[in-house]
Amino acid sequence: MNAVAVNPRKREVSLINHPAPDISAPTEVKFRTLEVGICGTDREICRFDYGNPPIGSDHLVLGHEGLGLVTEVGSDVHQIKPGDLVVPMVRRPCQHEHCLPCRSGRSDFCTTGDFVERGIKECHGFMTEYVVDHEQYLCVVPPDLRDVAVLMEPLTVAEKALIQIWQIQKRLHWECPVVEGKAPGHCRQAVVLGAGPIGILGAMALKVAGFQTTVYSRSKPPNLKSELVESFGARYISSETTQPEVLAQMLGNIDVVYEGVGGAKVAFDVLKVLGLNGIFVFTGIPGFPLPHIMIDGELIMRNMVLKNQVALGTVNAGRDAFEASIHDLGIFMQRWPEAVRSLITGRHKLGNAKELLLGKATGIKNVLEVG
Ligand SMILES: NC(=O)c1ccc[n+]([C@@H]2O[C@H](COP(=O)([O-])OP(=O)(O)OC[C@H]3O[C@@H](n4cnc5c(N)ncnc54)[C@H](OP(=O)(O)O)[C@@H]3O)[C@@H](O)[C@H]2O)c1
Ligand SMILES: [Zn+2]
Ligand SMILES: [Zn+2]
Repeated sequence: MNAVAVNPRKREVSLINHPAPDISAPTEVKFRTLEVGICGTDREICRFDYGNPPIGSDHLVLGHEGLGLVTEVGSDVHQIKPGDLVVPMVRRPCQHEHCLPCRSGRSDFCTTGDFVERGIKECHGFMTEYVVDHEQYLCVVPPDLRDVAVLMEPLTVAEKALIQIWQIQKRLHWECPVVEGKAPGHCRQAVVLGAGPIGILGAMALKVAGFQTTVYSRSKPPNLKSELVESFGARYISSETTQPEVLAQMLGNIDVVYEGVGGAKVAFDVLKVLGLNGIFVFTGIPGFPLPHIMIDGELIMRNMVLKNQVALGTVNAGRDAFEASIHDLGIFMQRWPEAVRSLITGRHKLGNAKELLLGKATGIKNVLEVG
């Protein structure tokens, strides 16, 4: 089978011949990979910043944003059948008895760091023709989402954030008044930092949750991303032309910031203008080398205390976020089908993966068509 893999020891990224997997346990499912999304994580693995092959292997098959078509199921698989579309979850639990999150099915909160991640850490990924995985790590996707289901995994970042945002919001029991036709966030302002796939999918999820949503990102409008953002009813403001303080004056109390930039400077500049009782969600992962930057620590701490603010980071996702992602992607497609489709700016053959992974990042979301 063809597969795209990295060999960290030789510092090589290449198309390799990889053995086809077979079902070896009754709870396993075999699927043919249809598409795999490429993201910054794959590019970082190809720069050898991180990414580890499975124990005993010198290479790691890449790819964690998968979509597959089930071809075969084990005798103890009950919810999935051949012909189903599936999106695999990424992380698998550590083996430590004392890791309560992993023992409770929430390896996304693993406390030991000994989890494995498909296509990232010690477990082969989905940039290959066939994959076998246990039923419990696969999510069935409705066939009408086939075109865009490869966006499901990156959307889980926003869904896990939103689940936590609602949990934190429960401390404010005077929620938005119930208005027919409006979702629960309708009296709240959300700011999304960054207009990459993480930011745009986050903005869509916040819109569906009812938030008045503004995307605050670098490039001056009009551009591909600003037009896409405005096409689904969010506002786009450039950080090149509008300072965070002015942004806050324009919007009023900023209730939620969903950061999808990956750089601390703009994130902390916006944290300074987070509103009363506000929640700031960090999702960006600054890349190596990590420069030192100046932040207004005293002011930020003062604000966080006097304004009852919460800041949290979020990584990976559990089944609840995958289920929410399937649900919300369906709503996105009902409301803004063109905007969702236009997030996928390129579909490429597996043989072109190396150029995409090593070359300059282009477009919004590039996808490999595998089979
Ligand atoms: N937590 C998780 O589980 C998770 C999962 C996946 C990814 N991530 C992280 O999420 C972050 C975003 O991912 P992505 O794929 O969406 O990245 P991306 O495609 O690189 O998009 C980043 C966006 O941020 C904007 N930006 C960059 N620097 C900025 C600045 N100083 N001020 C304002 N805007 C700025 C960029 O503007 P331009 O359009 O002008 O370039 C771009 O729109 C990355 O750090 C990634 O590692 C986290
Ligand atoms: Zn990714
Ligand atoms: Zn664990």
